[in-house]
Amino acid sequence: MGSHEIRVSDRASRIEYAIRDVVVPATKLEEQGHEIIKLNIGDPLAYPGLPTPKHMVDAFQKSLEEQENGYSHSYGIKELRTAIAKNERNKKNGGWNCTEDDVYVCHGVTEALQIIFAAFLEEGDILLSPGPHYPPYLAYPQLYGGTTVEYRLKSEENWSIDFEDLESKMNEKVRLLVLINPNNPTGGIITSDEMDRVLEITEKWPNCTIISDEIYDRLNFTDMHISTASRSNSVPVITLNGVSKVYYAPGWRIGYMAIHDPDSKLKTVRDGIERLLRSRLCASTPAQKGYLAGLESSDSWMSKHLEKVKLQRDLCIERISNIDGLEVQKPEGAFYMFVKLTDEKWANDDKKFVLDLLHEEHVLLVHGSGFSPEYGKGHIRLVYLPEEKILHESFDRIDRFLKRHRNSSDS
Ligand SMILES: Cc1ncc(COP(=O)(O)O)c(C=O)c1O
Repeated sequence: MGSHEIRVSDRASRIEYAIRDVVVPATKLEEQGHEIIKLNIGDPLAYPGLPTPKHMVDAFQKSLEEQENGYSHSYGIKELRTAIAKNERNKKNGGWNCTEDDVYVCHGVTEALQIIFAAFLEEGDILLSPGPHYPPYLAYPQLYGGTTVEYRLKSEENWSIDFEDLESKMNEKVRLLVLINPNNPTGGIITSDEMDRVLEITEKWPNCTIISDEIYDRLNFTDMHISTASRSNSVPVITLNGVSKVYYAPGWRIGYMAIHDPDSKLKTVRDGIERLLRSRLCASTPAQKGYLAGLESSDSWMSKHLEKVKLQRDLCIERISNIDGLEVQKPEGAFYMFVKLTDEKWANDDKKFVLDLLHEEHVLLVHGSGFSPEYGKGHIRLVYLPEEKILHESFDRIDRFLKRHRNSSDS
């Protein structure tokens, strides 16, 4: 019998995740013996100098040694839910009345997203997401029949929300409005006035719930992170956060959703979310213990990590200001820069820029169109977590690449 290829589902064959898709050609180059500088992935542990705090690692380890290796409750271990709720209540610039019953622990924000989309979306429903945005907000909703529509972030004004555009895209089909604060990939943050305006707009659409992805909340260089839930008196807000970024432990795969529902509009959705959570059993038990130690212990270590990240941001801003062909809005949070390619050749094909740079200079970035075909094109995202020496080397190579191609297209 001849070989017969078994077909892939349509939905799986359409999934893209730009940040890891560019790793495929990079791995090929590595297999050929080349060393690649990777500025593509938002993983602090991929670079030296930003370790997971020891007291958290110890708690994880202790949990393993004490044989806490069984399943946990589907919504998360009680102590962790309590600690998360306390953290939400005590947010520096204003918290909200979160209780442990509002908190559901997941295998990272990524799993929380899949559960939320499964619970909210039906065929034809819309999710409004900032353009540009973290790719799963485009990839996952379609698995559940939903469609992602992007509202514009203003590239020329620190990637702040274009309210006119947002308002024009609201309608009764919009079930979820996403805020990513601070934003990946732009590093933009949302001010309290902007937040109030978003809530004012959303209030007019009773079918709409806000997803507030605050996974970079403590990576806000202005120290003015605003919790969306803390400012909402009627609009339901689902806050997302976890251990991956500000606690520097993305490989643990622990995050949560916390539901703020002042007018009890989400009763049935919540029942759906709980059913879904029970059906996937639970998140990793020892990893939850590690996160608990992070939340319950002093967070004084965090400012040192933050200072290092901020210094590296400043270094990148300085280097970019001296390179022809690049322009950037100064990010105020997270650890990404969304850099504009000003040479026409690259502005029209950011993916080619990324692939050619990778092959010629062995520096790996992510193409901006992978974060939004419309609002991200003509940009690249770089992660500024590597040490200064590596960042300098990367910019030397990028500068050399830009010059070489400018000269070759002139001739
Ligand atoms: C905005 C945003 N949300 C969520 C995640 C992933 O979170 P988790 O590791 O908890 O799944 C990332 C990772 O880069 C992110 O940038």
